[in-house]
Amino acid sequence: MSERIYVGADHAGFALKEKLVDELKRLGYEPVDVGPKTLDPADDFPDYARPVAEAVSTGVVRRGVLTCGTGLGMGYVANRYPHVRAAVVWSPEIAELSRKHNDANVLVLPSRFLSEQEGLDILHTWLDTRFEGGRHQRRVEKIDT
Ligand code: RB5
Repeated sequence: MSERIYVGADHAGFALKEKLVDELKRLGYEPVDVGPKTLDPADDFPDYARPVAEAVSTGVVRRGVLTCGTGLGMGYVANRYPHVRAAVVWSPEIAELSRKHNDANVLVLPSRFLSEQEGLDILHTWLDTRFEGGRHQRRVEKIDT
């Protein structure tokens, strides 16, 4: 069965989110697009961060992807949820480390600071990189204690 991945954006991330959803489908994942379904310049990032963070926090899905202009707002909201480790990522190297060392379970992309191709490259690396565990396991466990 293909992995379901929740995906959300605000108006600033809308165009990139559409590409991310297409790419996840192409790769064989089952993206769950929480919206927005159309571009609304007046929408607010918390309204889309919440359903994604909630799904990851409660174990409905293992991973989520969010995008807004800077990534910061989405990151703030998502990281308020227990067991969510949302990483604002701006390069494939950071994507790799966010998985290997931090076991990030929500990828947050700053759409206004990335090209579409950079966003897709980051997504690929993030999806394909495993958590290293070991000494990092202890550190990740301390986040929730
Ligand atoms: C929207 O203009 C912008 O503030 C938002 O996408 C995000 O960058 C907030 O953190």
